[in-house]
Amino acid sequence: FKVDWDMEQAEKNGFDHFMLKEIFEQPNALQKTMTGRFDEESNKVDFQELDWTADKVNNWNKIYIVACGTAYHAGLIGQNAIEELTRIPVSVEIASEFRYRRPIIDENTLVIVVSQSGETADTLAALRQSQKVGAEVLGITNVVGSSIAREADNVILTMAGPEIAVASTKAYTTQVLSFYLLGAYVAQMKEMISDEYREQLVKGIQAIPSQIEEGLEHTKGLQWYAESIKDSKSVFFLGRGLDHAVALEGSLKLKEISYIHSEAYAAGELKHGTLALIEEGTPVIALATQDEVYEKMLGNIEEVKARGAQVMGVATEGNMKIYQYVDETCYIPATLSLLTPLLSVVPLQIISYYTALALGKDIDKPRNLAKSVTVE
Ligand code: G6P
Repeated sequence: FKVDWDMEQAEKNGFDHFMLKEIFEQPNALQKTMTGRFDEESNKVDFQELDWTADKVNNWNKIYIVACGTAYHAGLIGQNAIEELTRIPVSVEIASEFRYRRPIIDENTLVIVVSQSGETADTLAALRQSQKVGAEVLGITNVVGSSIAREADNVILTMAGPEIAVASTKAYTTQVLSFYLLGAYVAQMKEMISDEYREQLVKGIQAIPSQIEEGLEHTKGLQWYAESIKDSKSVFFLGRGLDHAVALEGSLKLKEISYIHSEAYAAGELKHGTLALIEEGTPVIALATQDEVYEKMLGNIEEVKARGAQVMGVATEGNMKIYQYVDETCYIPATLSLLTPLLSVVPLQIISYYTALALGKDIDKPRNLAKSVTVE
């Protein structure tokens, strides 16, 4: 027998690209991230591997989250989740900025470094500097035995499995989920989370993998949309709060692999500059999943529509009002406001993928970029 065996094809498991395969692996990867994290009876979150005592946790008066690229964007969600659940102030910083200034950190600071590879030079340098001044460092990484996994005082492994495509997808969502779990855990140690809320949160988290799966069954519309924006000069992503953090990630995905210029804006900042760039037909992807600012987002959508923008709205199922404001709507399944990033980022990943595909770009290995940046 002669067997033609193309290793790379085999590893892609029937998908045309690693990126698409990894997008579809997200339900499974997230399931792994949460495996063993919940006590079935009490719904308590468990991080046995962390050597934290209640005393130590209660002494933290400040948290820094430090990372690069997509991991930095996951950190922005982490900031929201940790502040919301624990009321400890959190700053998120790009590692290459953090390491060259004099951040105010000491023994009462927790520094969380986030890195898929665990090898990014700037993130590793931030870890070492923080340890030098006595801060506790937690690493959130996907790679067992990586430098960050070895050097951090404690480590949370995201369990995403190997990620091959340069554009990160499942590493991001598993980092985001790790932050939710961590936030709930710290809140639990500080006795700041009620049993009812914890139960809601845990149920919400447990439903996410099947909700993503549900969304991934209907990607045709997104493919069509991607083809419609492929010749655009610029694409804008808008959102408020958590939606803004997701908008940043959606914009990064699009520029990384399609090479279309794209920017993400906090929707309330639009009128301070970006609005000048909106022309007839400019594609705008507007995320409106946050209940508290839903009406405000509709107002921002009106502002860009009035200047001729072509708007795709991303909203939670059941929010029918947006329908009258936008040209297209992408609905994500209903979940807690805090958890929407895990669902809303997926259509943005798919849009980037199909835009790059329509343009014939090298999706898994975009020009000028590397999977892991170990030089400064
Ligand atoms: C590179 C990759 C990105 C990644 C970033 C940080 O730029 O292309 O996908 O987000 O590095 O990598 P890390 O391994 O530290 O998460």
